[in-house]
Amino acid sequence: MSSTEGKARSAPERQEDVNRRLGRSDVNDLEAIVSVVNTDTDEVIHSVPSEYDTIFTWDYEKAARPKLAKLYEKAKNAQWNAETDLPWETDVDQESLVIANAVANGGFGMGLDFSETPLAKWNEKDWVRLGVESQNWMLSQFMHGEQGALLCTARIVESVPWIDAKYYASTQVMDEARHVEVFNKYLTTKLSGHYPVNTHLRLLLDDILKDSRWDMTYLGMQIMVEGLALAAFGFMFQMTTEPLLKQLLRYVMADEARHVAFGVLSLQEFYPQLSASELRERQEFAYEAAVRMRDRFLQQEVWERLGVAPKKILPLLMQDLPERRQFQSLLFSKIVPNCKKLGLLDAADGWLRDRFTELGVIQFEDWADTGGEYESLDAVSADREVAKSA
Ligand SMILES: [Fe+2]
Ligand SMILES: [Fe+2]
Repeated sequence: MSSTEGKARSAPERQEDVNRRLGRSDVNDLEAIVSVVNTDTDEVIHSVPSEYDTIFTWDYEKAARPKLAKLYEKAKNAQWNAETDLPWETDVDQESLVIANAVANGGFGMGLDFSETPLAKWNEKDWVRLGVESQNWMLSQFMHGEQGALLCTARIVESVPWIDAKYYASTQVMDEARHVEVFNKYLTTKLSGHYPVNTHLRLLLDDILKDSRWDMTYLGMQIMVEGLALAAFGFMFQMTTEPLLKQLLRYVMADEARHVAFGVLSLQEFYPQLSASELRERQEFAYEAAVRMRDRFLQQEVWERLGVAPKKILPLLMQDLPERRQFQSLLFSKIVPNCKKLGLLDAADGWLRDRFTELGVIQFEDWADTGGEYESLDAVSADREVAKSA
């Protein structure tokens, strides 16, 4: 997602740039998607070279941006403690939960015909292992994504030029530290194994951090990654019957709703100053982020760990499982309306609208955007009110 500012590129040339950055000309090329793998799974430190301006502002006028100031006040009162505000004493039996979930959803295998696949001979034990590994994988990726958010918001504190945004972003740094902490604690003490970062996710986080423009950090993290996280946490919150995870997600979502609002409110002010060609770069950035996020949900590392070549099973799951397609598109239910609200869908020749149509997610364009949803998702304040009146 490097800048092409200053160079006039024709539409086909720009499309070629996008294809090159994504490493394929057909966005749905499964072979190309699963060939993107983590080649250094023992890596402990990962550094992303980047160059950006650290911005002082001498304009200290507080609440010059009243909506950001309100969000900041809200965030100060909605802090919670990962160690003491969640019921960590809860016993979690991961295998029993996987079985109960399968029973509630029509059994293992989701009614698909696996006779021509490596899963033909699978017994219940194999299916339970798939459920357990999928959960380990999913929460590991959430944890890595949360660390990405921690780094991005620390960056925003430095690079955004507005004092109200610096104040607010500083509260988000604390929120994201807490999120990394809770997902890691849940994985370590309640589940049964971590996964390294998925390469599609890591490439996306790298792209966001490599870009020197402060608004791109916002677009990549606050709109795209956070928007997807909010939808995914909401989905998991609905599905899980495990009380600790449910409460954990409820509190994390209360924070995430503020984070997405922060992105929408800030970029709404900034984008009207941009030229058509600058907006097109933001559209491409949003599209490439969307593709990388969709691709990571194939959980190819889970299949590899179970000894099943992803290429042999993913085509069946992709084609024959409407629920999976529905889940994957639902992940975009916050992103698409927020992009619309920011004017990105229809900027210039509507390039992003066409791409989201291709990805099969355009139907969410008129769903509620996330500019004010944080008020209704404030679980922390709601619980404190209940505790006070008890
Ligand atoms: Fe977070
Ligand atoms: Fe967040």
